Amino acid sequence: MSAVKKLSTAFFSITVVAALFMAPLASAVPPGTADEIRDRMQPVGSLCRAGDDCGTTVAVAASGPMSGEDVYNQYCFACHAAGVSGAPMLGNAEQWGPRVDKGMEALMQSTLNGINAMPAKGTCASCSDEELQAAVEHMLP
Ligand code: HEC
Repeated sequence: MSAVKKLSTAFFSITVVAALFMAPLASAVPPGTADEIRDRMQPVGSLCRAGDDCGTTVAVAASGPMSGEDVYNQYCFACHAAGVSGAPMLGNAEQWGPRVDKGMEALMQSTLNGINAMPAKGTCASCSDEELQAAVEHMLP
């Protein structure tokens, strides 16, 4: 075997070995551009801290606070119209009676923090306390 042949055989083996080692590495890199990969590495969901402008400021400034009826129609209606999971129904004196007896402060505590199947803020995370209270008053008989 000539020296050149030996050398090229050796080089070929190295290439094959290298290719075998590289293949799994190459396939471990997810497809897509660097930007796409960076996007995928972002944490799921973004955190909106108190005081941050989380996209609500503009809407509120443009339209002013929502009326109790608007809040009810957009957020509370889903459960309080049909009484889902025992939610007291809009304007139903029998169902609201014992709850009203607790006082508005207690009702607002339940509204803000949630109670049993009732989610905190009735799912309107961007609602102010005033908007939520207006919605509660809208539902009371
Ligand atoms: C996912 C369903 C759901 C949504 C949406 C919802 N509620 Fe409720 N709500 C309930 C249920 C269920 C109860 C009864 C909870 C219990 O006492 O076990 C309840 C109870 C209440 C009570 C009575 C709490 C008490 O202490 O007696 C108030 C006040 C109330 N909801 C306000 C609201 C307001 C305001 C909204 C909209 C901003 C809203 N809810 C949206 C399910 C919901």
